[in-house]
Amino acid sequence: MTDPTPDAWRAVDRYFADTLVGHDPALEAAVADQNVAGLPAIEVAPVNGKLLHLLARIAGARHVLEIGTLGAYSTIWLARALPDGGRVVTIEAEPAHAAVARANVDRAGVGDRVDIRIGRGADVLPTLDGEPAFDLVFIDADKQSNTIYLDWAARLGHPGTVVVVDNVGRGGAVADPQSTRSDVVGTQRGIEMLRDDPRFDATALQTLDAKGWDGVAIAVLT
Ligand code: DHB
Ligand code: MG
Repeated sequence: MTDPTPDAWRAVDRYFADTLVGHDPALEAAVADQNVAGLPAIEVAPVNGKLLHLLARIAGARHVLEIGTLGAYSTIWLARALPDGGRVVTIEAEPAHAAVARANVDRAGVGDRVDIRIGRGADVLPTLDGEPAFDLVFIDADKQSNTIYLDWAARLGHPGTVVVVDNVGRGGAVADPQSTRSDVVGTQRGIEMLRDDPRFDATALQTLDAKGWDGVAIAVLT
């Protein structure tokens, strides 16, 4: 095989998404309304949303923490993975995004299991100390703060908690040790923390999907 061309890898992503993810009115409406409201189109790709959903089910998650709600596309995927009584706590810094997210989770029929906390992650996370330990944490916010979010994921989880970090490929830039981009440096510091901090055991996969060339790190708390 030659290296994948953009046309070829897009066709493969479409094939997997059409075949294994399919179409869902509430998820597609969530993206449509997010776009109309002018939110950035940086929600996870459909194949990645389903990956989050499957990881939550594999982990038997009841309590999920998401850092970075945006329009709740990934939140809906996660909420649908939970048993009755399960809950997603999701943190969103932008009140206008949180309003779109609230409408989207309600329309998707999971509003009763989604708790949207408005504020910056670094401010909201310390307030979650009294919550039941989280079984899965999805980190998908400002990349500059990834090490702060990983630290809170370790504090608010338990041995066996699954931790997922979105966007760790950054179009290939993560492999550039000279990068001065703050998002890239934040991502690199997070990857190094996953290596060095004994609370984590981790790997990362690069992804080529509807959102382009990026990656996802997956860790378990020790
Ligand atoms: C960006 C952030 C994301 O969470 C994402 O999935 C894609 C892009 C960004 O800030 O550019
Ligand atoms: Mg993301």
